[in-house]
Amino acid sequence: NDVRLWGGRFADGPADALAKLSASVHFDWRLAPYDIAGSRAHARVLHKAGLLTADELERMLVGLDELEVDVADGSFTGTIADEDVHTALERGLLERLGPELGGKLRAGRSRNDQVATLFRMYLRDHARIIGGLITDLQQVLVGLATAHPDVAMPGRTHLQHAQPVLFAHHMLAHVQALSRDAERLRQWDERTAVSPYGSGALAGSSLGLDPEAVAADLGFEHGSAANSIDGTASRDFVAEFAFITAMIGVDLSRIAEEVIIWNTKEFSFVTLHDAFSTGSSIMPQKKNPDIAELARGKSGRLIGNLTGLLATLKALPLAYNRDLQEDKEPVFDSCDQLEILLPAFTGMMETLTINRERMEELAPAGFSLATDVAEWLVKQGVPFRVAHEVAGECVKVCEAEGIELDELTDDQFAAISEHLTPEVRGVLSVHGALAARNGRGGTAPSAVAAQLAEVREDLAVQ
Ligand code: ARG
Repeated sequence: NDVRLWGGRFADGPADALAKLSASVHFDWRLAPYDIAGSRAHARVLHKAGLLTADELERMLVGLDELEVDVADGSFTGTIADEDVHTALERGLLERLGPELGGKLRAGRSRNDQVATLFRMYLRDHARIIGGLITDLQQVLVGLATAHPDVAMPGRTHLQHAQPVLFAHHMLAHVQALSRDAERLRQWDERTAVSPYGSGALAGSSLGLDPEAVAADLGFEHGSAANSIDGTASRDFVAEFAFITAMIGVDLSRIAEEVIIWNTKEFSFVTLHDAFSTGSSIMPQKKNPDIAELARGKSGRLIGNLTGLLATLKALPLAYNRDLQEDKEPVFDSCDQLEILLPAFTGMMETLTINRERMEELAPAGFSLATDVAEWLVKQGVPFRVAHEVAGECVKVCEAEGIELDELTDDQFAAISEHLTPEVRGVLSVHGALAARNGRGGTAPSAVAAQLAEVREDLAVQ
């Protein structure tokens, strides 16, 4: 009772050690529904080519329907002896239809074009799932920006106080990055909408089958592969998917890192909800940002999935090589990780409490209005080089005296530079500094409101 699809020229069955090494059914079983859809489409083109009678096609489709039900309810599963999902499902069909009819479906297809097609179908479905989860997170971040339209916080470069920004502006910066990730998924999906079915092992089929009909049947909007060698051997669609998921992980890790820092006693910018934080087994007082830390950690894993895959693909000669069986586990893992992580991450952000007083208290600290002093001087006709020096001098005096810029007296200002008249105080307020940056993309409340409106519109159609 040999289930192998290739036993004819072999006198002996496979060694146990080979069977163990060769088996992929324990991880490619998730392709089963797609394999059955592919078999239906293939049966139809076999019929069109005169290789299955109408009655045989009918019975074939009934057999595939039965198999699909048994796969869905778990009464039929692959075993290690089946090698892979394709072999297992062929066994299932043979058991249901008998060898005479069941044996006809193999004609004109190979596991090489099958697996390349099914993998695309699987990843396209998961690109949509992940895209939807990203939109959920973006909506929550937009909600945070909407709920806190006028809260100032210290904007940082090098993690040092730089210039005050609106908290909403900062949240929308993350939304913009996630929008590009969602766009990458959509563009990838567009590129991946080409079906390799009909490419056979590598050279196409001599049986007069219609790959375009199969492509249409399976929902590939851009038809069938233009080149059967490329159809079966290319995996750049997998590598690109792995990159996009790694990039999503990296973008999440940047939000995560901030949440972790903001949640420290020293910052106290945010408080995590109990339902989205964890405790310590020994320290009773602890409340830890584990979701953010797991996001940060999983981003490393997602990057590893990408680099491992690229290493597998490097220098592989055309066409199919068995190395390519190593392409699935990394990206299946990337899908699984993001689909577990994103809902938790979104929940954490949705339930985050913002400490407005603390953010606003620190917004002007660290002489973050020094640039405003320099730019005010420029408006008085002072060259920026000089203005920069003068503002720097103000900071130096403040540091020596242990005071902030707005605590300098009129005399102290005048002693630093004749240009520093008392009117300079007009720009020494956080809200003045914010409001002044009102060009497109700036941090003024009016500019951020305009950005928010644009983002909302984009999200509605994303
Ligand atoms: N399981 C294989 C894969 O995932 C497909 C089978 C191709 N096997 C072969 N001997 N050509 O790539």
